[in-house]
Amino acid sequence: MEQDQGSTEYLNARPGVAYVGDEACRECHEPQYKDFKKTGMGRSLSIPGPGNWPEFTKPVRFSSEKLGRTYTVSVSGRKMYHTESKRDANGKLEYSETHEVAFTVGSGDVGRSYLVAKGDALFLSPISSYSGIRGWDLSPGFEVGQFRGFTRPAWNLCLTCHSGLPRPIADTRNRYQDPPFRFLAVGCERCHGPGELHVRERRENAPFRGPIDFSIVNPAHLPPQLRDDVCNQCHFLGDAQILRPAKTYLDFRPGTPLGNVVSVFSAPIRPKIDVVKALSHREQIEMSRCWSGSNGRLGCITCHDPHVQLHGAEAAAYFRTKCLTCHTVKTCALPAARRQSTSPPDNCIHCHMPKKTVANIGHSALTDHRILRIPTQNPPVSAPMGESPDNLIYWTRPRQNPEAKPDLRALALAYYEVSQVYPQFQQRGFEVLEQAARELPNDAEVQAAYGLVLLLARPGSSAKASQALQKAIDSGSRSVEVQTRLARLRLSEGNAAAALLLYNEAIEADPYYTPAYFGLAHLYAGTHDHQSAAETLQKILEYDPGNEEASRALADARGSSSHQ
Ligand code: HEC
Ligand code: HEC
Ligand code: HEC
Ligand code: HEC
Ligand code: HEC
Ligand code: HEC
Ligand code: HEC
Repeated sequence: MEQDQGSTEYLNARPGVAYVGDEACRECHEPQYKDFKKTGMGRSLSIPGPGNWPEFTKPVRFSSEKLGRTYTVSVSGRKMYHTESKRDANGKLEYSETHEVAFTVGSGDVGRSYLVAKGDALFLSPISSYSGIRGWDLSPGFEVGQFRGFTRPAWNLCLTCHSGLPRPIADTRNRYQDPPFRFLAVGCERCHGPGELHVRERRENAPFRGPIDFSIVNPAHLPPQLRDDVCNQCHFLGDAQILRPAKTYLDFRPGTPLGNVVSVFSAPIRPKIDVVKALSHREQIEMSRCWSGSNGRLGCITCHDPHVQLHGAEAAAYFRTKCLTCHTVKTCALPAARRQSTSPPDNCIHCHMPKKTVANIGHSALTDHRILRIPTQNPPVSAPMGESPDNLIYWTRPRQNPEAKPDLRALALAYYEVSQVYPQFQQRGFEVLEQAARELPNDAEVQAAYGLVLLLARPGSSAKASQALQKAIDSGSRSVEVQTRLARLRLSEGNAAAALLLYNEAIEADPYYTPAYFGLAHLYAGTHDHQSAAETLQKILEYDPGNEEASRALADARGSSSHQ
């Protein structure tokens, strides 16, 4: 396999070196500690409480006409509460669901979202606050009906980027240990690697074991790709992230290639002029002529000191000095006199890196990192890395082999993910997935994806689909979607016992996975056990009272059971 073993000199990138937390660094690095805690990253996740919720100034209430629901935010006894409720046409309350907010996601520079706990699972609140409007609205994706209620799982990935160190329970979906985070906000060791060894050696005043201190990673000493990978682990989402077999995001260590843990792909889609996508700073930077003309020298940390976040005139002056490490004042083609119009005068970033509306998040703006001559004109879209328009762009190439192709497994799974957003990749995606399913009969994720595609897009191939899904489970898949889909197939094949087992396994892995309850209720209804069907549907309404499909099904099941 094309993997860079990253035979890193850094001793703290090796397995077994423990994380110690930011407080341990403070003792010797007070300046970095103090500055960093004031940045957005240093405040990326927090527990709401008085003094810690500047966005909350008075009780909030708003309605969504489209969703027919009302939302409120209130504060009581040092806690914040979010409520979603619905009334019928006569004004009678149909349901109301209130949760204490457990965690705040985001510093608030741009906005904040909120997590609520149900048992040991974490879910996104439908309510977010937005700095752009200094107010509250539905969370991204809720207004278009992609998510609803308090049912969107926070999921590993959301927390991997926003928290210091999440503690998921292995082999479950969206369930966490107590407490769910070892460290709340992003901390020193996410960029410098685990600190145990460095702290010990510096305390003991041990001699360096090399020309520099290899007990801790300084990104500034890394070659360009490894340097940028430190930031890419959280700042670059792409359109598909495919974990390597048996890896989790938490296996990444600064100083080693991100591609050892995850393969990142994006679809070659032409960007619009006036919007930027969130989490695409890297794609944008690579479209710039500053990047292509400077041979890898331009990385995130060429311009950013991640310990310090500057604002206003201070930021303008700071970034100007960064531009002027490669440019001179005279390289700007606009006459000097016309550059005095900005505030402060001759503010390079005001003209070349303006804030733009974000395509995939409401009420927000991010900085255009394409560094265009004239940002209001469409940039020449350089096909990144010279690929053809129907091929996915593969970002996590090993550094010693820039021509490397992704392995079949990662490519097939990437097409599967990308096709769900961009249907134009479905045909090519199916071909690649079919090949992968043939060549990798024991790969749980490949078999799972193949089975699901067959089921959803190839009517009439349910026998083949159930074979693939069974292979996925035999190869170790713990996907609740696979279990639930296969259960449904087993039921239709007449094997209710196997179906029952699979539904129960799915519910154990994720007690809030609604499709499994619906499947189970359907199974009971099929055996005329309307009592059990009703009890199963009732469970959905216990954790998701706004689920109208479950209410209707429950009414039907109760109707049926009273006719027995
Ligand atoms: C007991 C004191 C002590 C503690 C605790 C400590 N450091 Fe250091 N650190 C030092 C000293 C001294 C240096 C300068 C010498 C060197 O480069 O190692 C240093 C250097 C560094 C460097 C620069 C290394 C280089 O090669 O440029 C980084 C990065 C760093 N520390 C991060 C951390 C982090 C992160 C923590 C907490 C996990 C931490 N330090 C805890 C004493 C300490
Ligand atoms: C563990 C994940 C993670 C890593 C690693 C990371 N970032 Fe961030 N970064 C974030 C998150 C999350 C935010 C948004 C924080 C907020 O405002 O809530 C952010 C925000 C920022 C910001 C906006 C200002 C600020 O401090 O909030 C800059 C600039 C930035 N990151 C640069 C970098 C650079 C450069 C690197 C690599 C050296 C890097 N980041 C590595 C997660 C990360
Ligand atoms: C791949 C890493 C990643 C994932 C996944 C991710 N975020 Fe972020 N998030 C970031 C970074 C980095 C920023 C800084 C702005 C940017 O670059 O778009 C950010 C910005 C934000 C902000 C605005 C913070 C501010 O600056 O005020 C909020 C709120 C937020 N994310 C919430 C979420 C939630 C909720 C989820 C999960 C549903 C999520 N994010 C998933 C990395 C991530
Ligand atoms: C988002 C990534 C990131 C985080 C988080 C981070 N650092 Fe750094 N750190 C860097 C980078 C990048 C450099 C290299 C800066 C340069 O020289 O351009 C650096 C350099 C350093 C150095 C070397 C001296 C210097 O200032 O250049 C020390 C010491 C250090 N960091 C300590 C810390 C401590 C302590 C924390 C936590 C309180 C921390 N860092 C958090 C990215 C990070
Ligand atoms: C690491 C060096 C480096 C840094 C830092 C840098 N640039 Fe560049 N920039 C370049 C190179 C190289 C080119 C391409 C020059 C050429 O091809 O003639 C370029 C080109 C440009 C262009 C022309 C773009 C086009 O499409 O024609 C603009 C505008 C620009 N830079 C602005 C900036 C600004 C503003 C900053 C600071 C925010 C900055 N650059 C920082 C190296 C850099
Ligand atoms: C040529 C300089 C330059 C480079 C290189 C650069 N940035 Fe930025 N970045 C900026 C400027 C300028 C801002 C706006 C700062 C402000 O308004 O205070 C910014 C803002 C940000 C922010 C805050 C949110 C936003 O979009 O306004 C994040 C996050 C960020 N950059 C991440 C990155 C990452 C990740 C990389 C590397 C892939 C990177 N940047 C490379 C200049 C740069
Ligand atoms: C008031 C807006 C404004 C400011 C401020 C400004 N620029 Fe420009 N810059 C422009 C425009 C407009 C062009 C394109 C002019 C043209 O093509 O006729 C340009 C062109 C450039 C180019 C491309 C030159 C070439 O011949 O390819 C570079 C590089 C550049 N600027 C860098 C900078 C740097 C560095 C700064 C800060 C020291 C800066 N600019 C400040 C508006 C500005």
